[in-house]
Amino acid sequence: MTTLPPPLAMLMELTHRCPLKCPYCSNPLGLDRARDELDTATWQRVISEAAGIGILQAHFSGGEPMVRQDLPDLIRHARTEGLYTNLITSAVLLDQRRMTALAEAGLDHVQISFQGAEPDMADRIAGLDRAHEKKLAAARLVREAGLALTINAVVHRQNLDQLPAMLDLAIATGAQRIEVAHVQYYGWALKNRAALIPTRTQLDEATRIVEDARRRLAGQLVIDYVVPDYYASRPKACMGGWARQFFNITPSGKMLPCHAAETLDLPFERITERSVGAIWADSPGFRAYRGTGWMAPPCRGCARAEIDWGGCRCQALALTGNAAATDPACGLSPDHAMMADLAGAESAAASDNFAYRMIS
Ligand code: SF4
Ligand code: FES
Repeated sequence: MTTLPPPLAMLMELTHRCPLKCPYCSNPLGLDRARDELDTATWQRVISEAAGIGILQAHFSGGEPMVRQDLPDLIRHARTEGLYTNLITSAVLLDQRRMTALAEAGLDHVQISFQGAEPDMADRIAGLDRAHEKKLAAARLVREAGLALTINAVVHRQNLDQLPAMLDLAIATGAQRIEVAHVQYYGWALKNRAALIPTRTQLDEATRIVEDARRRLAGQLVIDYVVPDYYASRPKACMGGWARQFFNITPSGKMLPCHAAETLDLPFERITERSVGAIWADSPGFRAYRGTGWMAPPCRGCARAEIDWGGCRCQALALTGNAAATDPACGLSPDHAMMADLAGAESAAASDNFAYRMIS
């Protein structure tokens, strides 16, 4: 029997509440309500249990994690447990008082999302007036507090022409890293795919801009780049492989191998019923697609099976109706041509109306 390596990181969705309404939000369509959120003591227990099974990083996310007034207490607890702490935020609630509290709690790193490079575009995508202006001010506070800063730039058909300006914005804020991530189509983004998916020409131009910037800004800015699966020939190892390195906890305490896993018909458990370690080790939902034993051809026996782990289960289900199918992002999948045709047709249709994220 092979021993299970410890996970690297835990992502805590502290809340689904958020002042923004981004149409590509990675939260599920059915959002948890405030009254169902875990309390402070339970989150602290979860952090201790996760540290106990060997995670190194605690990511505080949402929704907007700064909606929770106990955020500094949770960060302090994670630091006490020896974890690296990262805040993933829209930053529109980050003022000087709260920045000081987070820094004093021991926060290591902040990731701020930007929806564009100029206010009209960015505020329209966020669905919130003056969001962009507040984010710029918050980025300054992060740097003044001496914390590491990453800019999360989610790109799609409607804002890709601002990519060069977004790279300039990252430099101007003093960020050490920017993640240029094309939208991945799960949850809200899947619902808004026709309004977001880029054309092949746009994608190629974005890739050229990123490659050029990497050469120009080497040593000054690290640029991570995530391409859209719809134009890929091989899938990415979603979450580093199912239940191999990461797990998520939803606001109400469901433990998942990835943020979109609730779309799969699997019996995911709550950390109010079993410990983090027990769920990680043997929960049926975690075991379902861990490793390679579940794979059928063409993944079974493929030389890349332990590189990309068959791609994304959530995408396989969304596009083929079968969560155990090869991710259609793979050129060896019988569904690959359908995926590419979809991208071509929807990007050409050029609809720009959003279904904004909201609690129904
Ligand atoms: Fe990856 Fe499966 Fe495609 Fe092989 S066949 S490259 S394992 S998705
Ligand atoms: Fe769930 Fe990819 S998002 S496996």
